[in-house]
Amino acid sequence: MHTTLTDSAEEAARILNAGQVVAFPTETVYGLGASIQRPEAIRQLFEAKGRPGDNPLIVHIYSIEQLPEVATEINPAAKKLIERFFPGPLTLVLKKSPQVPFSVTAGLETVGVRCPANPVAREFLRQCNSPVAAPSANLSGRPSATSWETVYEDLGGKISCILKGEASTIGLESTIVDCSGSEPILLRAGAITLEQLQAVLPVISTRTTHKSGEAPKSPGLKYPHYAPKASLQLCESGETITAQPSSAYIGLSPAPEGVVKAMVCGNLEAYGRELFSFFRLCDTERIRLIYCELPANQGLGRAIRDRLMRAAGKA
Ligand code: TXA
Ligand code: MG
Repeated sequence: MHTTLTDSAEEAARILNAGQVVAFPTETVYGLGASIQRPEAIRQLFEAKGRPGDNPLIVHIYSIEQLPEVATEINPAAKKLIERFFPGPLTLVLKKSPQVPFSVTAGLETVGVRCPANPVAREFLRQCNSPVAAPSANLSGRPSATSWETVYEDLGGKISCILKGEASTIGLESTIVDCSGSEPILLRAGAITLEQLQAVLPVISTRTTHKSGEAPKSPGLKYPHYAPKASLQLCESGETITAQPSSAYIGLSPAPEGVVKAMVCGNLEAYGRELFSFFRLCDTERIRLIYCELPANQGLGRAIRDRLMRAAGKA
């Protein structure tokens, strides 16, 4: 399949409206979009990514006005989060509207809804005739794509179009909060931090694991994620590292001696933005082991730790 590369949101939306799969930029990571009204496009999207059919997709809207097309029964907790954090790097799990097909929600009665802040994403979504279902635009299990070039690396020849935008400014997937029940639950940490959520909703809980036998709250969390080909070694800051051959380092502290590649990040925002692109760079350079410094478990550090633990197969 030929993959059209374009920087025209209008052209990309035209291709999506014709029932094709289109990748587009957002401030978190690139998304792989299909119209929620096109079952064949949704099927092709799962196929292109190699995504298990029981892992639901987030539905993207261009403004809060479009929310009624996607979700119903918006409770006061959800209203507060929407008011404070939409548009932005937050996904809310809400009761789905009948217009959202079960192929998008993987059979669930709930739907993840996000309104990205990236202007190119919003212009694209505004030109689409319907809300757009979109997982991250990477092959299933690989690190999420934070640039159009890395989308192409994974999905070139498998999808109809890539809308080229800037590299994602956050670099980590959205925070997910389940607002479909009586109490809000943080399902995935992201750039909207737990502390920011608590300032709006003091009652939010952080149950991310499921009791055995119970349906997982966020089905995607049970699959392996974000893994580079290299093995990862997670380190605490200040830990002494004796670098192995063909190893690399990413973190906030100075790099250990002897690594062949290092990314020393000035702050947590830079760490989040660089993490997945660094994993991919290490893959192209055939790095065998990556030392990753674990930041403190607060603020954006919580999201970075979560991705590192998953990538290392420890969560
Ligand atoms: O930042 C993001 O969220 C990016 C951009 C493209 O918006 N999207 C993204 O999608 O990360 P994906 O598919 O890679 O991750 C979505 C996660 C999965 O773990 C999925 O199981 C969960 O959201 N999810 C989707 N719908 C859900 C629902 N109704 N209930 C619980 N979890 C849901
Ligand atoms: Mg993903």
